[in-house]
Amino acid sequence: MSMIFFRCVCFLRTLGAQRTATIVRAVKVFCGLFLIAHIGCVYGQSRKTIDFNDGWRFKLADELQFRRPDFSDQTWQPVVLPHDWSILSDFGADFPAGNAGGALPGGTGWYRKTFHIAETDKGRNVRIDFGGAYRYTEVWINGHYLGKHSNGYLSFGYDLTPYLRYGERENAIAVRVDNSQQPNSRWYSGSGIYRDVQLTFTDHVHMEKDETFVTTPVATEEKGTIRVRTTLRNPREERVSLQLRVFDRDGRVVAEKTASVKGIHIDETIDVLRPALWDVASPNLYRLELLVQSAKGAEIDRLAYKIGFRTIHFDVNGGFSLNGKHLKILGVCLHHDLGALGAAFNKSAAKRQLLIMKDMGANAIRTAHNPPATELLDLCDELGLLVYNEAYDMWQKRKTKFDYHLDFKEHHIADLQAFIKRDRNHPSVILWSIGNEIREQFDSTGIALTREMAAVVKQLDDTRPVTAALTETNYDKNFIAQAKALDVLGFNYKYEDYDKLPKEFAGVPLIASETTSGLQTRDVYDPLHDTIQFWPASSKDKFVTNGNPDFTVSAYDNVAAYWGTSHERAWLEVKKRDFLGGIFVWTGFDYLGEPVPYPFPARSSYYGIVDLAGFPKDVYYMYQSEWTDKDVLHVLPHWNWSTGDTVDVWAYYNKAEDVELFLNGKSLGKARKTDERLHAEWKVPFEAGELKVVKYRNGRPVQETVRRTAGQAAKLQAKVAYERFRTGDPRDLYFITVELVDEAGIPVVGQDMELTFTTEGPCEVVGTDNGYQADLTGLTSSNRKTYKGKALAVVRKKENAGKGVLRVKSTLGETKIELPQL
Ligand code: GAL
Repeated sequence: MSMIFFRCVCFLRTLGAQRTATIVRAVKVFCGLFLIAHIGCVYGQSRKTIDFNDGWRFKLADELQFRRPDFSDQTWQPVVLPHDWSILSDFGADFPAGNAGGALPGGTGWYRKTFHIAETDKGRNVRIDFGGAYRYTEVWINGHYLGKHSNGYLSFGYDLTPYLRYGERENAIAVRVDNSQQPNSRWYSGSGIYRDVQLTFTDHVHMEKDETFVTTPVATEEKGTIRVRTTLRNPREERVSLQLRVFDRDGRVVAEKTASVKGIHIDETIDVLRPALWDVASPNLYRLELLVQSAKGAEIDRLAYKIGFRTIHFDVNGGFSLNGKHLKILGVCLHHDLGALGAAFNKSAAKRQLLIMKDMGANAIRTAHNPPATELLDLCDELGLLVYNEAYDMWQKRKTKFDYHLDFKEHHIADLQAFIKRDRNHPSVILWSIGNEIREQFDSTGIALTREMAAVVKQLDDTRPVTAALTETNYDKNFIAQAKALDVLGFNYKYEDYDKLPKEFAGVPLIASETTSGLQTRDVYDPLHDTIQFWPASSKDKFVTNGNPDFTVSAYDNVAAYWGTSHERAWLEVKKRDFLGGIFVWTGFDYLGEPVPYPFPARSSYYGIVDLAGFPKDVYYMYQSEWTDKDVLHVLPHWNWSTGDTVDVWAYYNKAEDVELFLNGKSLGKARKTDERLHAEWKVPFEAGELKVVKYRNGRPVQETVRRTAGQAAKLQAKVAYERFRTGDPRDLYFITVELVDEAGIPVVGQDMELTFTTEGPCEVVGTDNGYQADLTGLTSSNRKTYKGKALAVVRKKENAGKGVLRVKSTLGETKIELPQL
């Protein structure tokens, strides 16, 4: 050996210093590689998660041979996930989901994908995770059956390791999604693999992601403590080390610790001094990184979590507090579709919805009535929105013929566990709801089921209250409340009963888990009635009997479903009661399905504060004036009427004693809100021209807004929104609003026209909409008629190279819109 060493030194001397250095470097690299390879033999590489959404093929048909690995799917349609096949159709009266389900088709479809796994990944664990597929989903890998999943709103996954082929040999995955038996959901569900799919590679030894529970038992301005509980899968004999590192938002390490671990259970804490707390105004997040290393320092596994230090508390008298400070929950219920995208999840589309809500002043959302995409919770963590996270819309007793009641008995415990484990590490989640308007609240079976499910939740997460959204306001008849297992009780509607609730349900904190159900079509104004109109009027009618022939509902806040009330009334009733922790308005956005008060062709809901396309209805500004500190002044309606009309003019405003209305420069008097009315109002004989509202604070004019009578439509005005909704996801979208305006740029509402959207460059139109609830053109069409002068196009950039262009054609000519680089 020493002889070899001596010869080498002599040889190097003959080469000179520079070459010697090069050779020494090469030897070092070689040794390094050898070491890594050697360690690799022992532990493989650390965790790697890859996007598995590209390269699928789809067929809307059902044959068992599709599961076979050697089946040729070359004629199938190439698709990129997330994918919702229902949304691709035009609306129709005869689909089995009915208009309550969105008047779109279901069926059974198959997805297939072939892929390779490198030889070097041999020995590693590989699992596939589906964010969600609707509905019954069965998966085969290389012909092996992996299982069937029945809850269309929950995530699920399988270990692929035992069945994989490596290197040149191809793997084939086949997924059958059966959404043929309908109706099976309230409301539109979508069909197919409608959320993200990922492949995760880990070492044989790894942390169980679902078993990892990260809490913040101390969250004060002086100190934050993070507690991590997790399980190590397949540990070897020797000890391993767990490194915990906490990074602040600038990427600086603010706390660090290494612990020695033996066995499978890990339970560690780490402190952060003077943490910036997470709240709705400043959603400060830290990043906790968990790194498992072998005794020799080789990386075995790595996981990261977003941490928000915050405390939550519900009080019987005082409502909700966040970080020890009272905070009224200002929430909206959101259903899971994303308008023109249907159920196909897209992070930028979800961010758009959440930011529109946040701009309105909402600080919370209720995921009504199902577990959301986990990316939605990521967004709520980042944006500072509290989440009321809901598991079920029914238990054993059905709401629709083929819904989850069929699977409840067999799966409800495991599904609930999977739901809690999946979502419990999100700081935004503040409440677990085990159900919405569950029928078992009316009979004694509700007691045992409530106890059983509350216990399941508590066992997996003792840091958040468990609740349910109830309708029965008499304790004696409410068996869910009688179980005495819930920490917070939610009540839907029935504001007339609010004052009796603290006595009936003594000792339990309360919230208004669902309110309002006002009905509106954007920019439609019918003459006002003195009292609120209920459409339909009572439980005797399925539909409104004296509705509008064009299936619209007036956007003055004075029409509601008979079980609901106006937006103003509902908010006023919650606002004045401190014992109610907050409000969840039904709903933030219109959604597909449940088009009360009309039959088909109505196919999407009228309940939203914002329409399906994302355009706010007027009442949006009522909330903004009440829920934010921004200077708000909004006047309705538009100013295009006929001579002789007397028009009701309303103004929403805040931070002022009163507002004054001017028509063509002439004052029509000052008006103000009252304790029982959250808008100012006037009756105005129409005269074409300019309607102006001026807002006065301390007697001084501080803000004004105008509506002008429009001339003939002369051009299309387009606005591209994307920057604020970017998420970094390669599938981020552009949202283009097109508005008809006259020569002077005044919006034209009475001259709707067909638009045709085409693209150039690496982009495509993925959806169009106008917010009209009875428009029957499918939402993925490139043709869309404006509604009240507006339409939306949603465009996806296919790749990030080159410029994308969107062209909009109408009888007014063509408008070219350059899409900014992502
Ligand atoms: C509630 C129900 C919601 C929705 C709403 C419409 O009772 O929880 O799912 O149907 O009514 O007003």
